[in-house]
Amino acid sequence: MTTSHRRSDDRTKMSLPELSALKGRRHRITMVTAYDAPSARLADEAGVEIVLVGDSAAMTVLGHDSTVPATVEEMLMLTRAASRGARRPIVVADMPFGSFQVSDERAIENGVRFVKEGGADAVKIEGAGRMLTRVQALVDAGIPVMGHLGLTPQSAMLLGGLKVQGRTAAAAHRFYDAALALEHAGCFALVLEAVPPPVAARITEALGIPTIGIGAGASCDGQVLVWHDLLGLTPGPLPRFVKQYADLAGATRAALQAYVADVRAGTFPAAQHTYAMSVEELEQFEAEVAAVAPRPRDR
Ligand code: KIV
Repeated sequence: MTTSHRRSDDRTKMSLPELSALKGRRHRITMVTAYDAPSARLADEAGVEIVLVGDSAAMTVLGHDSTVPATVEEMLMLTRAASRGARRPIVVADMPFGSFQVSDERAIENGVRFVKEGGADAVKIEGAGRMLTRVQALVDAGIPVMGHLGLTPQSAMLLGGLKVQGRTAAAAHRFYDAALALEHAGCFALVLEAVPPPVAARITEALGIPTIGIGAGASCDGQVLVWHDLLGLTPGPLPRFVKQYADLAGATRAALQAYVADVRAGTFPAAQHTYAMSVEELEQFEAEVAAVAPRPRDR
C-alpha cells in the first residue's frame, strides 16, 4: 500500500485514468465532502483525491432534516465554490433529488449545468435499475458519473429510513448485480453506503472501477466521510460508521465565547488591532472639527 502518490506541490488536476490506476496499485482513495472554497482547499492540501459536493449539504449547511429538499440552484452555488478551492482533487457534484430521476434528457440538462456552471469534473447519482439509462445518457454526453448504492438517502423513505442495507443474501445479491450493471453503464467509481463489509468486499473485488465506502468496511478501494461528521461539527448522535477526527464545534464555541467576553469587557480590540495616525494629522483633524462643531446649546 503506498502512502502518497504525488509530490506535495503537485496541484494539477487528477485525471480519471489516474484515479482508476490507484485501484490497481492498491492505493486507498480518500474522498471527503466539501461545500465551500476554503474547505475544498484544505481537503486538497491534505491530499484528498476526490471532493464530493454532497447533497448532504441540505442537512449540514442548509439546515434541513434530509437531503431531499436540496435544489439544483443551491447545489450549483456550493459546487462553484468548492471547485474554486479544489485544484488537484476531482470535484464530484451530487445531483439532488428530482434533478435526474424524471428523464435522461433532464439528467443531461442538469448534469451539463453542474459541469459548465458549477465547474464540477463529474456528477454522482443514486441508485441503479431505471437509473442505469441515466448513467449511460450522462456518460454519452461526456459527463463522468459516480454511482451510489446501498443506503441511498434520497430514497430513505422507500428504504425504511437511514439504515444499513444488503443484510440478506437476496438484497446483497441485488447490490452485487446492480454494482456490475453500473460499471457496465459507464460509472467511473461507485459509493457503497451502509452495507455489510463482506458484501462491499465482494463487490470491490468484482469491479474494475474503484469503490468508495462509507459504513462499508475497509476492503473498499477508498473511503468517504461527510466534512461536518469528520470534524465534529454535526450536532447530535453520529452514525456508527463515522470517526470524528476533531471537535471543531467545541473549539468554535470556545472561541466565540471568548470573543463575546472580550468585547463585553472592552479588551477587544486592543492597540495591536487598530491603525495608527500621526500626531500632526490627528491635531489638525481635532482643530478642524472643533472649528465647525456645533456648540452644545445649538444641538
Ligand atoms: O451527500 C453526501 O454527502 C453523500 C456521501 C455520504 C457519499 O452522498
